[in-house]
Amino acid sequence: MSDRSGIFSGDDPFAIARAWLTEAEASEVNDPNAMALATVDADGLPNVRMVLLKEIEDAAFVFYTNYESVKAAEIEGAGKAAFVLHWKSLRRQIRVRGTVSREEGPQADAYYASRSLKSRLGAWASQQSQPLSSRAALVAEVAKVTAREGMNPKRPPFWGGYRIVPSEIEFWADGAFRLHDRFRWVRQEPDENWRIQRLNP
Ligand SMILES: Cc1cc2nc3c(=O)[nH]c(=O)nc-3n(C[C@H](O)[C@H](O)[C@H](O)COP(=O)(O)O)c2cc1C
Repeated sequence: MSDRSGIFSGDDPFAIARAWLTEAEASEVNDPNAMALATVDADGLPNVRMVLLKEIEDAAFVFYTNYESVKAAEIEGAGKAAFVLHWKSLRRQIRVRGTVSREEGPQADAYYASRSLKSRLGAWASQQSQPLSSRAALVAEVAKVTAREGMNPKRPPFWGGYRIVPSEIEFWADGAFRLHDRFRWVRQEPDENWRIQRLNP
């Protein structure tokens, strides 16, 4: 029982997210898949930074990063994360909260292999989130890993994906006079049916 229609309609929130992202690809100036990823540290202090959403699967969202970064430590400490996608051009947002696990198998290998050689070598060279003495030191590190890993580097063991399995997804769209439309989809486990509620703006 819900009055969902138009851009909010359908029984699969991942299909809605895919459709919204496709629209955003046509209207955003750049990085339509950029999302603000929120984590908490061991003291419960929130942290947030942008990452790129790379896959919308049947029941999860996947992004890629360095497993020795600050975000990785916070994700692995809490086992949970949240993110928001916001498109100014569409005046819409999608909010997601859920549990997180690594994607470090063939799927991560395939995504790594799809990146430009410079990006693949950059992943080897960057000790993400660690202090860096100078830009020159990073450039020297890229030269070092290029000599070592060659022109067809394999995926670094410290670099791969994270898969966010949502327990909550909210779709928000701007409405006239700040009477925005919001629909929250909630489920405890991936094999459960979603409960969908319209929320006050
Ligand atoms: C638009 C945008 C997209 C980004 N995408 C990624 C990404 O996909 N993966 C990543 O590790 N960092 C990405 N970054 C860099 C992160 O925001 C961040 O600086 C870095 O991952 C270190 O974060 P941490 O110290 O909290 O781990 C992106 C930054 C911007 C502005």
